[in-house]
Amino acid sequence: MKIFSTLFIFLALLITIGYTACNTATDNTPVISAGFDSTYRPPDTSKIPNDKFGEMVRYGRNLMLNTAYYIGPEGKNGQYLGNKMNCTNCHQDAGTKPYAFSLMLSHEHYPQYRAREAKVLSLAERVNNCVMRPHSGRPLPLDSKEMLAFLSYFKWINSQVKPEDRNMNGFQNLTITFSPRAGDPEKGQKLYTEKCLRCHGEDGAGVFKPGNGGYLYPPLWGEFGYQPGSSMHRVIKQARWLKANMPNDQATYFKPILTDEEAIDIASFINDDRIHKRPSPKTIDYPFPAEKAIDYGHAPFADTFSEMQHKFGPFQPIIDYWKKNGLKPSY
Ligand code: HEC
Ligand code: HEC
Repeated sequence: MKIFSTLFIFLALLITIGYTACNTATDNTPVISAGFDSTYRPPDTSKIPNDKFGEMVRYGRNLMLNTAYYIGPEGKNGQYLGNKMNCTNCHQDAGTKPYAFSLMLSHEHYPQYRAREAKVLSLAERVNNCVMRPHSGRPLPLDSKEMLAFLSYFKWINSQVKPEDRNMNGFQNLTITFSPRAGDPEKGQKLYTEKCLRCHGEDGAGVFKPGNGGYLYPPLWGEFGYQPGSSMHRVIKQARWLKANMPNDQATYFKPILTDEEAIDIASFINDDRIHKRPSPKTIDYPFPAEKAIDYGHAPFADTFSEMQHKFGPFQPIIDYWKKNGLKPSY
């Protein structure tokens, strides 16, 4: 008992230190205290059981890593995706990396009410949203081997979450503070040229891996990039991910390269539909404006701010307005 309570106090202390570090951090300083998220280790894949369930888990993990090879436009086991990105391009390390749209808790978070559809979705239906939007694909049949493999994999990684990691920040997205000014696509373009172009290319089209294995550097816009209806197309959502993860060979969530403002500017440039074309969306709009993510730039809104402000910011006045009016802003 004594050991447990000592451990508890120790953990509580670490959490407090973690939060303090987050709150006082200025741009570019490490935002995460060592000793909290730093103790996290991704699941040990050698522990995947050697039985029928384990076989599906392994296939699910392979699908995350080599999505295009198995179910891409020329997929070996079925042609579902409309492009050759792999799930792991966004859900890095097959969904196990902190602050990279982690999927470690997804299995226990579904079924879940989704404001986007104003419906309760199963995890399988949520998987299909990503198959359809970022991958411009057609939905996997719910009873297909591939869908069952994804779900088995999510169930298994969820079972590997250690009790001490359960409340880890990295299962959510990195928090960023909002600049008083709007995201600036022109500034974003300059930053893109400096920090991103060497991999993702001048035309944002990325670089293919030889063969059918997807991309060395995935596309950011153009006909093979994610659709406008994807969450990655939202400026805040993308900026939080960029700060923790890009440039891919330099940034870590402990030591980001981009400042909060730079991440917002670059996300504004990448996601500016006046500059960049994307596949046409087949999107379902939030039926209830008061449930709409604040950085979703399509009217009608539950407030008086313009589409431009919802898309690029400044975001804080919108958040403040929502809170003042008893609404719950999500972003
Ligand atoms: C272009 C980036 C991108 C790609 C590629 C992508 N996703 Fe996603 N996915 C996202 C974003 C963004 C979210 C929302 C994350 C959030 O709200 O924090 C998401 C959410 C999800 C969720 C819901 C997680 C939860 O707990 O609510 C699942 C499951 C998922 N994706 C599975 C997949 C699978 C499987 C693939 C490959 C077939 C895939 N995704 C490909 C960007 C992507
Ligand atoms: C060293 C090469 C490199 C640099 C530089 C780089 N990236 Fe990436 N980027 C990658 C790779 C590789 C992936 C896929 C990651 C994976 O599969 O784990 C990726 C994935 C992405 C994705 C998600 C997938 C997609 O295509 O939509 C976005 C968005 C992105 N990068 C934006 C940026 C931005 C913005 C910068 C500049 C701040 C940048 N990257 C710099 C290599 C790079």
